[in-house]
Amino acid sequence: MSEPVVHLQVQGRVGVLTLHRPEQLNALNDELMDRLGEHLLALDQDPAIGAIVITGSDKAFAAGADIAVMADWTYMDVYQGQFITRNWETIRRVRKPVIAAVAGYAMGGGCELALACDIVVAAESAQFALPEIKLAMLPGAGGTQRLPRAIGKAKAMDMCLSARMLNAQEADRYGLVSRVVPDAELQAAALKLASQIAGYSMPALMAIKESVNRAFEASLTEGILFERRELHARFAS
Ligand code: CAA
Repeated sequence: MSEPVVHLQVQGRVGVLTLHRPEQLNALNDELMDRLGEHLLALDQDPAIGAIVITGSDKAFAAGADIAVMADWTYMDVYQGQFITRNWETIRRVRKPVIAAVAGYAMGGGCELALACDIVVAAESAQFALPEIKLAMLPGAGGTQRLPRAIGKAKAMDMCLSARMLNAQEADRYGLVSRVVPDAELQAAALKLASQIAGYSMPALMAIKESVNRAFEASLTEGILFERRELHARFAS
């Protein structure tokens, strides 16, 4: 039997999911995205888990969607098969905090996967890019929407239109990542952060995550109203 493409390890109240397609730099194919989605939903349902970490290898968090399998697809294949929508968006259904621990390449869909997480902890070796333009494509897993919201239009346009690669320090400065740590400390730092978060009240964590995402996804007026309702609702427990 072949090795799983996503490894699960439970450390205290944290579920750590490690992407594992080393020969393809963790390129994201259907099998990997299906397994990742299944693990995420199972951890989200598990009362013993308070936070989730997604990580890759020292060389690559993920080098993007699997270009090799995409090469022969037609428009009807991806339209009818709901490429991306069918299994990449599972992460949006997760209510518990999800932390990306990124070392090495986070390119294309790999960068988009990190952007879909709630917190990104980067190793000094981390490199972020949306190079789809080089393939005459566009970032199609939320990158054109989440990146400008995260780092602003000017920087996002630059990255998407020129395929500019950001190192960890630049990504930190622009707001794409939350913290940068030495490579040797990445896993421990992400686990420590996840364990700290997992120790807090789960209903409060979920309310915060939902509220912050509202700020990200909705207008300020709607977001503030939502936040106020969530605040008032905290007084019910
Ligand atoms: N898909 C499939 N295989 C990939 C891959 C990908 N995205 N990225 C790397 N690989 C494979 C390579 O083909 C290579 O396999 P072989 O040894 O069998 O040839 C192996 O991983 C190692 O890659 P390299 O030899 O290229 O390693 P490198 O260190 O010289 O370069 C890299 C690393 C800069 C990340 C380079 O591999 C690269 O540019 N990869 C493509 C990145 C990319 O374009 N990502 C965007 C994909 S499109 C997308 O993600 C669309 C979307 O929005 C959903």
